[in-house]
Amino acid sequence: MQNNYVKIFDTTLRDGEQSPGFSMHLEEKIRLAIQLEKLGVDVIEAGFPAASPEDFESVKRIAQTLKTTEICGLSRAMESDITTCYEAIKHAKKPRIHTFLATSPIHMEFKLKKTPSQILTMATNAVKFAKSLCDRVDFSPEDAGRSDRQFLVEIIEAAIQAGADTINIPDTVGFLQPSEFGDLIRFLIKNVKNSDKAIFATHCHNDLGLATSNSLAGVLNGARQIECTVNGIGERAGNCALEEAVMSMRVRKDFFNLQTGINTEEIHKTSRLLEQITGQKVQSNKAIVGKNAFAHESGIHQDGMLKNRETYEILTPESIGLDKNEIILGKHSGRAALKAHLQKMGYTISDEKMPEIFVKFKTLADKKKELSDFDLDALMMGENHSMPQKWALVKFEVTSGSQTPWCKLTLKNLETNNSITKENTGTGMVDAAYKNIEAICGNFGKLTEFYMENVTNGLDAQAVVNIRLENLDGKVLSGKYGDTDIVKAAIMAYLEVINKATLTT
Ligand code: KIV
Ligand code: ZN
Repeated sequence: MQNNYVKIFDTTLRDGEQSPGFSMHLEEKIRLAIQLEKLGVDVIEAGFPAASPEDFESVKRIAQTLKTTEICGLSRAMESDITTCYEAIKHAKKPRIHTFLATSPIHMEFKLKKTPSQILTMATNAVKFAKSLCDRVDFSPEDAGRSDRQFLVEIIEAAIQAGADTINIPDTVGFLQPSEFGDLIRFLIKNVKNSDKAIFATHCHNDLGLATSNSLAGVLNGARQIECTVNGIGERAGNCALEEAVMSMRVRKDFFNLQTGINTEEIHKTSRLLEQITGQKVQSNKAIVGKNAFAHESGIHQDGMLKNRETYEILTPESIGLDKNEIILGKHSGRAALKAHLQKMGYTISDEKMPEIFVKFKTLADKKKELSDFDLDALMMGENHSMPQKWALVKFEVTSGSQTPWCKLTLKNLETNNSITKENTGTGMVDAAYKNIEAICGNFGKLTEFYMENVTNGLDAQAVVNIRLENLDGKVLSGKYGDTDIVKAAIMAYLEVINKATLTT
C-alpha cells in the first residue's frame, strides 16, 4: 500500500448505531453495509457481537454477505468477547478483530478498577488471543486522549509485539484540540519502538465539534487510517464525519497529498440511505451532505456562480453524486428485473412477498413513470423487516376542504382475523386517521415527532413520513413509510410504530 493512502474504517454500524435513536434492524444494517461497500470503505466495523444475540447475528450476516470489504467486530479485551467476535466475523473474506481497553487514569481507576500493570497484561493477552484466531487485529487504548503518554508508548509497544497490526488512538470524549491530537500521533509514531510494524488510526469524537479537524491533524502527523461514520453519527455528539474527512483530502489534495479509496460519487446516496433508515435527518447546513450544502441563496452569490461556479463553490455537487439520481426502472419493467434490482440494492425478498411488492411497484410506476433507487427505498419501507405484524390497513377514506377533516378507516387484527372500522374528525385528515388508529389499537404512548419529506423532486414525488413514539416505559420507537399519498404514508408509519409497540408490551 502506498504511504499516502489513508484507509477509511467505517464505524457507522457500531459506534453510530449504538447511539440513541440510531438503532437499525438486521435488514437495514445489511442494506447500509452493501452501500458502504459501494462507497469503497476499506473496513466496516459491523457491530459488537458480544453485546447481544441481535448484534452477533447482524455482524455474522454482514460478514457472509459482503464481497470485498474487510469486516471488523468490536470486542472488549477478554477471551469470551473475542471468541464471540471471531465467531461472527469469521465468514468474511477479510475478517478483523478490534479489541479495546481503557488506559486513562480515570477509566482505569473508576471504571475498570485495575492498575496500569494489570491493564498492560490484559491488553497483551487480549491481542495475543485475538491474533491466534484472526490475522488482522486492531488494538485501541480507549480514552487515549486523556492517557499518560509514556503508558501509551508501553502498552502500544506490547500490543504490536503481541500481533496488533493497527493501533487506533481514540479521543473518546472529544477532549483534545487539533494540534494536541496531531502531536500525540506524531509522538507515538516516533517513540513506540516497533511503530513501523503497525498502521496508526484516529478515532475522534465530536464533543467540541473538532472530530474531523482532529482526524485530519492525525493523518497530517502520520496516521494512515481514519475511523469515522456517515453523517458523523455516533456516541453523544458523534464521530468524525466520513464525508468531511474524505472530501477535505480530495478538495485539498494540494495540501494533504493523501488519497483514499472512496468512490465519492456514492457519498450523497449513502448519507440519504442512512437518513432514511434511521429517520434522523441531517441538519440542513451540515458540510457536504446537508440540504443547503450546495444552495446559493443570496443575489451576489448567485450572480457570481452564474459567471463562474468556482467563485463560491469549492466542490461540485456531482463529486458527491448529488445529481446522480438515475432513473432505474419504469412502468414497463418486469417482476424479474424488479426483484434483481432490489436484491442488488440489498433487500432480501421472499417469493411470497414478491407479488405484493410488484403490485405496489406497478401502482407507483403508473403514477410516477420513472423510478430511482430513492423511490424504490421508499417503496420498500415497511417491507424490509420481518417483524411479526398485528395490525394491517384494510382501507381508508378521507375528506377535507370546506368541511371538517374526516377519516373512516378499517384495520385488520391479523391475530384474530377481525376487521374493525372507526370514523372520526380531526384538525386535519392525518389527525382524524390517527384518532381512529388509537380507537382501534389502543394508546401506546406519546407521539414525540412527526415529519414528512419528499424522496425526489416534483409533484409526483413520494412523501416519506417519519414518526417517533415514546412508549409508557420511555422507550422510543420509530416508524416510517413512503407513498405518493401523504395520508396513507402517515397511516402506515403509525401502524409500523403500533406494531412495534404491540410487540414490546
Ligand atoms: O470512542 C472510543 O473510544 C471507542 C472505542 C471502542 C474505540 O469507540
Ligand atoms: Zn467511539
